[in-house]
Amino acid sequence: MQNKTDSAFDTMFGQEVHEGLTAFPKYLSSKYFYDETGDKLFQDIMAMPDYYLTESEFAILKRYSPEITKLFSEDKQPFSLFELGAGDGKKTKILLRELVAKNVDFDYRPIDISQNALNQLELSIKKELPAVPINPLQGTYFDTLQDIGKENGRKKVILFLGSNIGNLLHPQAIDFLQKMTAVLGTKDLLFMGMDQKKHPQTILNAYNDKGGITEAFNKNILNRINTEFQGNFDPDKFLHWEVYDPETGTAKSYLVAKEKHMVLIASLGLEINFSQWETIHTEISQKYDDPTVEWLAGKAGLEIVTSFTDGNNFFKDYILKKKAL
Ligand code: AVI
Repeated sequence: MQNKTDSAFDTMFGQEVHEGLTAFPKYLSSKYFYDETGDKLFQDIMAMPDYYLTESEFAILKRYSPEITKLFSEDKQPFSLFELGAGDGKKTKILLRELVAKNVDFDYRPIDISQNALNQLELSIKKELPAVPINPLQGTYFDTLQDIGKENGRKKVILFLGSNIGNLLHPQAIDFLQKMTAVLGTKDLLFMGMDQKKHPQTILNAYNDKGGITEAFNKNILNRINTEFQGNFDPDKFLHWEVYDPETGTAKSYLVAKEKHMVLIASLGLEINFSQWETIHTEISQKYDDPTVEWLAGKAGLEIVTSFTDGNNFFKDYILKKKAL
């Protein structure tokens, strides 16, 4: 490794790119998909009919919001509704509307890495749902979990929608949930969306649309490396490839080199050689069933209170709480 500039290498992204592209087999983390272009591409993915996850969770919230909000508020205690990775809040607004209609005493605390996304969300909530007290928090899930932990006096309900947990391998998901459990009090609740195992073709179609949006989303990480670290990746030299293992429920995304070539990443001082058909593993999107969710919850000191599913049983929202000792 020569000529690396400290500033580029000092960023977490720089370090992880270095580590992942010098490993065998090569990998990059999907958490770096999300710059401005990646955010926009993910919005487009969520609007695609093949990406059934969005519509399925929307249907659950529409159908069960009276029951869900009743479970959140049946002890009549005021609470803070935290949301991890709030995005545009489209699905959450269904719950917020119901909470307002039922005169529930709560405030809404969306958390997102993007200040821009939070500003837009705050504006739209103030316009569409002026009765909702909103108090955004900017930061990563892990950092802000600590802030959540400090809010000890007030009951907490934490929303984690969209099967975002599915982008973590089981050991990472357990670690994340354990950190979550550490900030939960005995009355607090976690409301978590988890995509379910289903016909393998349905899953493959969701991650391999014919319009090429998911391909562009996957390849965006190469463009980011080019822009941020003076790289010369040619995204056309890679295939977007999706596989799904119905036994483990793991969907995996790859970039596959179509030809032997070399890539320079100037500010990381890297020369990366690709042989023909060599892969970069970029994302996992885990699919679940009830026994797996029970196992994950148990490992993290949580238990399932109840769950809600859509008409196709494609997706489930689970309500979890801290396991009684
Ligand atoms: C954000 N996350 C839950 C999405 C998923 O389904 O794994 C990201 C995504 N990747 C490809 N399409 C959507």
